[in-house]
Amino acid sequence: MTSFVRNQWYVAAFGREVGRELFARTVCGEPILLWRTESGAVTAMSDRCVHRRFPLSQEPSRIVGDQVVCGYHGFTYGADGVCVSVPGQKRVPRTARLTSYPVVEQDSFVWVWIGERELADEKLVPRAPWLDHPGYTTVSGMEPLAARYDLLVDNLLDLSHETYLHGGYIGTPEVAETPITTEVDEAAGVVRVSRRMDDAACPPFYANSTGIEGRITRWQDIEYHAPCLYLLHSRVAPVGSRPPEPDGTDPDGFHMEVVYAITPETEHSTHDFWAVARDFAPDDQAVTDFVHDNNRTVVLQDVVALDVLEKAISAERDGYQELSINIDTGGLAARRILKRLAEEGARATAGSTSAGAEARGSA
Ligand code: FES
Ligand SMILES: [Fe+2]
Repeated sequence: MTSFVRNQWYVAAFGREVGRELFARTVCGEPILLWRTESGAVTAMSDRCVHRRFPLSQEPSRIVGDQVVCGYHGFTYGADGVCVSVPGQKRVPRTARLTSYPVVEQDSFVWVWIGERELADEKLVPRAPWLDHPGYTTVSGMEPLAARYDLLVDNLLDLSHETYLHGGYIGTPEVAETPITTEVDEAAGVVRVSRRMDDAACPPFYANSTGIEGRITRWQDIEYHAPCLYLLHSRVAPVGSRPPEPDGTDPDGFHMEVVYAITPETEHSTHDFWAVARDFAPDDQAVTDFVHDNNRTVVLQDVVALDVLEKAISAERDGYQELSINIDTGGLAARRILKRLAEEGARATAGSTSAGAEARGSA
């Protein structure tokens, strides 16, 4: 049994990555083939031909209209994964169908449901509306991480590391010095961690992008929607400027919506999707380039650190007891929620397997 949290929505790709070419990505250990039909809809199915397991993403497999033809012996599948023709015979075996995955394309992401299909509820896909909102300018990317996904969850929920790992980019002494408040909504699977700095140095990432000179008030309000979506609502403003109005308008504030989708690839590797949407200098290409390059550098600093950490932990004896302090409150809450979701997912899968066995037994 794996530790993946099943029966959940995960980001498999940015919408821009998926087109009329066959595209593969492994999510929670499952190799998934993604492509668009002629109408532009994204479709997701197993990337292993039912015949001899040839990866359908591999040349010379190809898309013909709204069908995929396996490049090994020509099994042909519709967009629903059902095999419609096989070579050398008229009859297509009834069981010749690929696992197909429920898909939602939203907020520039392609989400897939990993788990029991009948439990998929599109309304439960968490939102990151800034990423394709006309009032925001967004940069984004995906970095492969050779580390288990919970290390990235831990990393993102405790931003005190910015001071040390990202000094000279987004870290200043005040981040590590300022205590956090944490709220946990166990039922919704959401962890909120806030850090409000009243008078802090402005790190280069914000100084160069906003043009603020001097000290800032800096708010970091995290919302983690377990297991996959992480939002950091970041607000900076010159010290002494007006706070946001009660109705949410905030003429003195500069806002960045920092979004991560944390998608397990295997037990020990992760797709680290990142995006930054800003509401200022929307058409300034120099700012866009700076935010992209600087943020990617920061993401890669985490990737290097977490890749090292994965190696260290993998070599560790079982049962090592970590030491946690106040800054870890959010991360520990996230771990608790992920453990519960993993157990619930495993129970639902076991339940549907035994229900299926009963149904087959009584047929
Ligand atoms: S492996 Fe795909 S048709 Fe044989
Ligand atoms: Fe980081």
